[in-house]
Amino acid sequence: MKILIANESHFKYAPIIAETISESAKIRGTGIAKRTPEYIQKRLQNGNAVIALDGDKFAGFCYIEVWGNKDFVANSGLIVHPDYRNQGLAKQIKKRIFELSREKFPDAKIFGITTGLAVMKMNYELGYKPVTFSELTNDPEFWKGCQTCKNFDILTRTEQKMCLCTGMLYDPEAKEKNAKKAKHEVNSTAFKRLKSIKESLFLKKKDK
Ligand SMILES: CC(C)(COP(=O)(O)OP(=O)(O)OC[C@H]1O[C@@H](n2cnc3c(N)ncnc32)[C@H](O)[C@@H]1OP(=O)(O)O)[C@@H](O)C(=O)NCCC(=O)NCCS
Repeated sequence: MKILIANESHFKYAPIIAETISESAKIRGTGIAKRTPEYIQKRLQNGNAVIALDGDKFAGFCYIEVWGNKDFVANSGLIVHPDYRNQGLAKQIKKRIFELSREKFPDAKIFGITTGLAVMKMNYELGYKPVTFSELTNDPEFWKGCQTCKNFDILTRTEQKMCLCTGMLYDPEAKEKNAKKAKHEVNSTAFKRLKSIKESLFLKKKDK
């Protein structure tokens, strides 16, 4: 398995990446921002994406997106092909894209929004903390990405204060201050409870 910084030579993988992301979202039944092959191609060409290949076969992907005048970057679109799951590949991709983000944008805060426990766990291990949406970028272009998510009405209803996703943030300044603190582990039970509270709050209202 090779984990590479993507470039134009990987354009041919854009359709399978887009399809794997949308198929996985359907199966999970969760909302996700839609990514077309054209959108993925743009991310493959600027040195801000990581692709995992097993020989010639697509195995995984993630990209960096820059927001709000480079104050914030997001590690988005993490996907591992179903044939390669549960082997620690997402962890390796996440680590590589995180290191790339730190190398290219050392002063930026790194953030993500997710409904996935796996992503929460990995982010936590990298030093991210759960935060309210007000701590994340206020760049309208980022939040526009949520328009294609099936839960967008919730985000609108709460005036962008909260949604089913949890916001997570790595703040390089805070990280330095806390460098000596012990390693934390994500509390899966608390996260699952938070998610179910949010779902019953927001989705019940939606069904009425
Ligand atoms: C989520 C996903 C990227 C995980 O990929 P993977 O290569 O199977 O993950 P890894 O094997 O590296 O596992 C990383 C950690 O997540 C945990 N994990 C993996 N899948 C999980 C799941 N479905 N639920 C809870 N935890 C999970 C693993 O146990 C591991 O934790 P550990 O280190 O404490 O053991 C993959 O299942 C996927 O592409 N899913 C669809 C897309 C998606 O959900 N993307 C995230 C959008 S926010």
